Amino acid sequence: MRVILFTGKGGVGKTTTAAATAVQAARQGIKTLVMSTDAAHSLGDALGVVLSLAADHPDAPVDPVVEVEPGLYALQLSAAHNVRRSWRSVQDYLLTVLNSVGVDPIVAEEMTELPGADEIVALLELRAQVESGPWDLVIVDCAPTAETLRLLALPEALAWHLDRLMPAQRGLLRRLRPAAAAAAGLPMPELQVMESLVRWREALQDIRSILTAEGTSVRLVLTPERVVIAESRRTLTSLRLYGFAVDQVMVNRVFPQPDEESTDTAWLAGWNQAQQRGLSEVRHSFEPLPIVITPYLPHEPVGADALAALAQARTGEIRDVLTLAPVLAMTVQPDDDGYLLTLPLPLVTAAQVDLKRRGDELLVAVGNHRRVLSLPSVLRRCIVMGATVRGATLRVRFMPDERVWPADD
Ligand SMILES: Nc1ncnc2c1ncn2[C@@H]1O[C@H](COP(=O)(O)OP(=O)(O)O)[C@@H](O)[C@H]1O
Ligand SMILES: [Mg+2]
Repeated sequence: MRVILFTGKGGVGKTTTAAATAVQAARQGIKTLVMSTDAAHSLGDALGVVLSLAADHPDAPVDPVVEVEPGLYALQLSAAHNVRRSWRSVQDYLLTVLNSVGVDPIVAEEMTELPGADEIVALLELRAQVESGPWDLVIVDCAPTAETLRLLALPEALAWHLDRLMPAQRGLLRRLRPAAAAAAGLPMPELQVMESLVRWREALQDIRSILTAEGTSVRLVLTPERVVIAESRRTLTSLRLYGFAVDQVMVNRVFPQPDEESTDTAWLAGWNQAQQRGLSEVRHSFEPLPIVITPYLPHEPVGADALAALAQARTGEIRDVLTLAPVLAMTVQPDDDGYLLTLPLPLVTAAQVDLKRRGDELLVAVGNHRRVLSLPSVLRRCIVMGATVRGATLRVRFMPDERVWPADD
């Protein structure tokens, strides 16, 4: 299955671009679901249909998938309460554990607060649709960039928290040896909480594998303005940091070149000039990523026909929607006497990257974004010898060192 997420700054045209891509794909015979994780609920407006929202009641059915036209289905997500409720039992248990080891109750409450329940609803729904939906293509219209990054970083971050909060239980979950937890002096979770924990761990693992699967990519939507381009550059770096494949840059709202009959030529010429400068900055910033240009229509594209026409009017390096994105993953290879870890990080310089080794993990920080990479076992026996950023890639050299060999190996 192909999954494409659309993200970008607020108001640049994410929903329109996502919906137009979905309509075009569906009309090519690709069975398509377009779902919106944005609380702004504008997907229905763009498609010109009512995407009914689930009633605000804990037992309300999940949000319904609406058929827009043959082959095209849409889904607007709304309800976060079911997730909060399911997390509550896990949280109560974690609070007991933290309490038993003397963590301040207020700190404990904060530590176990579910980060981004709305984001989790979106991810759980994406997982359900990918696993059991009849789709060839799932298009996700995401909330503005910051929330999307939080959304995409969440499965890993949350799994990390779960593992940190219950190291003994992690082993226990794996081996189902309650005696181990008892020996460690930790309160035992009730069966129902145990099941809940196991389900959460599995869900997070599944979501992470969907997001980083070969068939999943992110398309960055922007307009050719300097502030927007600057933010998009940072977004691209963050997306790569988290290991997501960005396979297209979509520049929206590009004014047509003036023709001879145009009456407001000076005004348009001004915009044309500014946008051409913007476009060349886009090329400069994002090449070799394919860049697609969407014209600024003289009206709002509302409804499937208008969206299909908008998609048709696109120019640039348009790729077939089902074509897989090239995967730029983290790699580890033998190098001299040690190993070389590489992580593609476009648009960064060495000065912006901060690295820290912490036990089995490598913390990579770029600006406000931080990723905790779980090191593959060969690297756990190594120490970091040095790091460089070259050719848009972070390279970290590791050397085996018996002083850091794990004791239990
Ligand atoms: N290429 C375009 N031409 C004309 N209007 C557009 C274009 N792209 C988006 N719009 C309009 O701009 C507004 C914001 O677009 P939207 O897709 O909702 O942005 P976002 O999802 O990024 O917040 C909507 O009213 C939409 O119809
Ligand atoms: Mg939107």
